Formats: sequence, structure tokens, C-alpha cells
Amino acid sequence: MHDYGLLVVGSANADLVVGVERRPAPGETVMGSDLAVHPGGKGANQAVAAARLGARTALLAKVGDDDHGRLLRASLRAAGVDTAAVLVGEAPTGVALITVDASGDNSIVVSPGANSHLTPDDIRAARDLFARAPVVSVQLEIPLETVAEVARGLAPGARLVLNPSPPAPLPAGVLTVCDPLIVNEHEARFLLGEAAGDTPEDWARALLALGPRSVVVTLGAAGALVADGRDDGCVWVPSPRVEAVDTTGAGDAFTAALAWRLGLGEQLAGAAAFAVRVGAAAVTRRGAQQSYPTADEVPAG
Ligand code: RIB
Repeated sequence: MHDYGLLVVGSANADLVVGVERRPAPGETVMGSDLAVHPGGKGANQAVAAARLGARTALLAKVGDDDHGRLLRASLRAAGVDTAAVLVGEAPTGVALITVDASGDNSIVVSPGANSHLTPDDIRAARDLFARAPVVSVQLEIPLETVAEVARGLAPGARLVLNPSPPAPLPAGVLTVCDPLIVNEHEARFLLGEAAGDTPEDWARALLALGPRSVVVTLGAAGALVADGRDDGCVWVPSPRVEAVDTTGAGDAFTAALAWRLGLGEQLAGAAAFAVRVGAAAVTRRGAQQSYPTADEVPAG
């Protein structure tokens, strides 16, 4: 029996968000809306998304001893996330500079701050947490050596869910334990390079050949493609149609929902079918964490 439905290891950022008519081209200046400051970061977003759906969730992360760190801890606590392993110190809280355009698409630059001080030693010191959740979810806004330590330290039978965002070359010891590796088109093309192919099915098959136990390719409004590696087949999971106002953090909500449902024993395609509905709900509201639905707010399948 596990204490948690999900353990998330990852980043926590203050999102500094400006709405724009269109995102600037290189060298261009555009005017935007008033600045909004929201709790974000891919790790904290996932933890809040899972907790809001009803999962008992713990987050292992690092923030600064500053107002942004307090904003994040308050948001996590309000959602019901266990913050005992949200460490404080060593650098200012990470910050994400985000522009959101009229179609709801965004561009993001992250200054990692305290996130880059989450070390392999921090992971080893929190090892007891790893036996207390069936699934551990991680992303790449923390050092790669820390992600590698997470992969090495999985408890027997635990499942690693990795969203390699922002993308970076992955050590074999990380790739081969992913179950699943969750990528969007940009991340798939980065990991595959020249060999990427043209279709999501091509990407899923080529990624499986790199070693993960399963792969999910997220396709935005088109849903997701699931390949569990047991045969040559891929399963397409459609998304409900919604009016998108802000896609920020929707991928984090998708990943959290999928990871939690896998931990409940659901098959990958079924968990993805739930997760696309959670992601669809998240794009209908502004911001990341404040856009995440409760279980009652997830559109029907
Ligand atoms: O995935 C969205 C998140 O990416 C934002 O909340 C921002 O903090 C960056 O980490």
C-alpha cells in the first residue's frame, strides 16, 4: 500500500506572464498586457494538477527563500500537495518569462535559479519518499544528473514517467526506464534528430527503438498517440474540442493525470484518454496551476 498516488520530482517557477497580440520575431519589440505573476514550473504544475484531481501527491523540488518561493508553496499547499520535500535555499526561486498570444500559444524562457540546485544528494536524502508512491514523474528543468539519480533510485516495481521538457540528450540509464516517455512534436524531433520521420507514428516507433518501455506523443488539439511497445501498433486518443485561451501548463496537467491513473493500475491508452480530457480543460482557462480542473470539471469522455 502506498502513501501517495504520485511523487513528482521537478521544478517550481514563478511565471511572469504578458499577453500579446502576437509573439515578437527576432529583433522585434511588441507591446503587451499588464504583467501577471502566477505559480508555475513543470514539476509544481504537475503536482498541483494531480492533487486537484484527487491524487495524494508529494513534490520534491527546491525554491528560494523569497516571495516567489512563498507564492509557490502556498499554491501547492492550497491544492493539497505534500510540501515536506520542497526544499528552500541556495538561490532565488526559478522564474519563467512567458508571452501568450491571441490564439493561446506561448513562448517561455526559464531562469532556473534554485531548480538548478536540486542535486543528486537531495534525491538520495529523500530516498524514503520513493518507496511511498507507485509512480514518479520527472521533467528536465532540474539538472540532468539529478534526473539520472531519480531513475537509478526508483523503488522496485515503481514506474518512471518522463516528459523531457525542455529537451536535452538523455542518458541510456534514464531512457530505458521511462514508462512512458511523454513528448510533443518538438521534443520528439529533438530526441530523434535526422531520423525523426514525418508522422507521429514514425516518431513513436523510432522513440521506442531508443529503449523506453512505452511512448506517448502529445498532439495538442488532436489528442495523443500511445505506443506501449508490446506490438508494432499505436493507439490514437482523440481530444474533446474546446476553445483554447492559454495552453501554458496544459502538457503538465496531461502528464500528471496520466501518471496518476497509471499508478491506479489503468492501462496506458485508458490513462491517456483521461489525460487528454484534463489537458483540454486546462487550456480553457488562463495560467498554469489556476487552470487545472478538479475531477468534477474534467469533460466527459
Ligand atoms: O509547462 C509550463 C511551465 O513551463 C510554466 O509554468 C513555466 O514555469 C515553465 O516551467
